[in-house]
Amino acid sequence: MKDRAQSVIATCRRIAEMSEEPGRTTRRFLTPPVRDVHEFLRTRMESLGMSARMDAAGNLRGLWVPTGALGKRLIVGSHIDSVPNAGAFDGVLGVALALEWVELAQELKLPFPIEVIAFSEEEGVRFGVPFIGSRAVAGRFDAALLALKDADGITLADAIRAFELDPSKIGEAALDDHVLGFVEMHIEQGPVLEAESLSVAAVTAIAGQSRLKFSFQGHANHVGTTPMNLRRDALAAAAEWIVAVEAKAESTAGLVATVGKIDAEPNAANVIAGSVSLSLDVRHADDGARRAAVDLLVARAQAIADKRGVTLDWAQQVDQPAVPMDEHLTADLTNAMLAARMPDKRMTSGAGHDAMVIAASVPAAMLFVRSPGGISHHPSETVREEDVAAALHVARIFLDRLAARFG
Ligand code: HGY
Ligand code: MN
Ligand code: MN
Repeated sequence: MKDRAQSVIATCRRIAEMSEEPGRTTRRFLTPPVRDVHEFLRTRMESLGMSARMDAAGNLRGLWVPTGALGKRLIVGSHIDSVPNAGAFDGVLGVALALEWVELAQELKLPFPIEVIAFSEEEGVRFGVPFIGSRAVAGRFDAALLALKDADGITLADAIRAFELDPSKIGEAALDDHVLGFVEMHIEQGPVLEAESLSVAAVTAIAGQSRLKFSFQGHANHVGTTPMNLRRDALAAAAEWIVAVEAKAESTAGLVATVGKIDAEPNAANVIAGSVSLSLDVRHADDGARRAAVDLLVARAQAIADKRGVTLDWAQQVDQPAVPMDEHLTADLTNAMLAARMPDKRMTSGAGHDAMVIAASVPAAMLFVRSPGGISHHPSETVREEDVAAALHVARIFLDRLAARFG
């Protein structure tokens, strides 16, 4: 498995060079570098004897059907879009490993087909809404999303058309019911496996997430001539609220809340900011706790705006409930881990994943691979060769046993 692991890591590093920006990895939904990724993956799929197609949501889908196979297929995959200045392994590792699964299945002469899906949009960077690719595959795509605009004013529908795809056909991307289940392998993106010196873990549940956008509207004015008591400073209001967001999360067990994006207008050193727009991301394993935190943070924003004489607008973009993984498929993974002489480590995921969307349609399971340094969404994100080899070792046993169950 060492050679396979080296090849998987090389694939991830090669795809990381396919970017919107020179010298760093940024690959948003259906931007030009995605064409290069698709071409690279198609070549690999076709060398494995797979058929490859792109659905109307921009997901690249490869299918391997063993001779005489009639039954349900296993789906394996992850996403190929990235955050700005990303690492090389978030999402892409799961796609590179999925193609190794096909090769393992061929060696094992498995009786069931395997579909590999490279989801087009999981991060939600370009249009502010995540999981566009997996929503379409899960049959949960809301056509209203097509009107969303990116920073350049391009609608989601036009971005799809620019890829020679027809947004009216997104419904055809939905899965049929000939599916055994979905497995996503993904870097942990956190510190747990490293702290416990473990290579892999099965994911039991994925935390829910809320994503909202806020804007404080004050009054731009001259920094030198406007007394402090006469200001309506949108940036000072936002700053007070950001500190309140952090304090709420620090004082609530299991809650993380983050303002990661902020834009101030007119964004000049000698002008009091008249308006500020910012993001809010709130996560918790319990949906009630998450939603209560969101309500409280909205109320805090309004109170700060009122106190400072600025106005507040806000909108919720995502309310993604926490999702448990399928217990049978997860048990198959943990049994394979034990058979591979590894601890059957189980853990929840604070990061969102396509598996949480696909789980609405078919049984879904996830296998985490250790993140050295617990780093992700950063260029120093990496994996260890021996951990990738361990994931492939688990995969081989998992596939072999699945064949025994469904063959
Ligand atoms: O934001 C997330 O949790 C994931 O990286 N998309
Ligand atoms: Mn990811
Ligand atoms: Mn990510």
